[in-house]
Amino acid sequence: MPTLIAGNWKMNGLLAEAESLAREVREGAAGISCALLVCPPFTALAAVARVLQGSPVAVGGQDCHWEASGAHTGDISAAMLRDAGASWVVLGHSERRGEHGEIDETVRQKVLAATAAGLTPIVCVGETEDQRQSGRETEVVGWQIEGSLPKDFAGVLAYEPIWAIGTGRTPTEAEVATMHGFIREELGRQFGGAADAVPILYGGSVKPENAASLLAVPEVGGALVGGASLRAADFLAIARAADALSKTAPRA
Ligand code: 13P
Repeated sequence: MPTLIAGNWKMNGLLAEAESLAREVREGAAGISCALLVCPPFTALAAVARVLQGSPVAVGGQDCHWEASGAHTGDISAAMLRDAGASWVVLGHSERRGEHGEIDETVRQKVLAATAAGLTPIVCVGETEDQRQSGRETEVVGWQIEGSLPKDFAGVLAYEPIWAIGTGRTPTEAEVATMHGFIREELGRQFGGAADAVPILYGGSVKPENAASLLAVPEVGGALVGGASLRAADFLAIARAADALSKTAPRA
């Protein structure tokens, strides 16, 4: 898979704003080779998908339910995301785990539902600041991988240290290299050879200024971008930084 630059818009964007951001991303994507994905809020998903139809920019949801349909007030199924034009879904984001009590097993069930509906899941893992300070970051991420991914996982993993999300702080390149190397080994240990193909994104305060150095770290297969993805210019600058590292072949 080419380097993936994914924008998680979180709970931002009324319809007109989301459409206009999507239009700007679409226009800027013309000169970009890496894979691009935007994940708008549910209410803007269909409209954004219409704007991006026929463009190289893919669309994803930010969550889905583990059941295909039924009495689940306020929830959205994977098939509904597909129906609205999504081909990807972010699962197990730390804001879902923290604010909605999602546990690894819930995430695993959602991955199964997403895959069954034909969506590519991006599963998020990452430690809290306390966990890193007590030297338990790899242990925590190892458990999250074991609990959140089904055995035949065919998606993308995103390492998002919680203390780096929305804070402007990032791990050092050495810390990212250590964690991504650990995740690659852990995927191999838990899932065998097929796990070599699972790209590992970095997320947490990725900006145009730090994108090149973070993306250059071995085993970093792309970025999951929050705040900076709400400005098309910044999002596209991050994508250009990925292209400049020429980890990707030009789009045919
Ligand atoms: P920020 O880029 O705003 O730190 O958010 C990262 C994130 O949570 C992406 O999923």
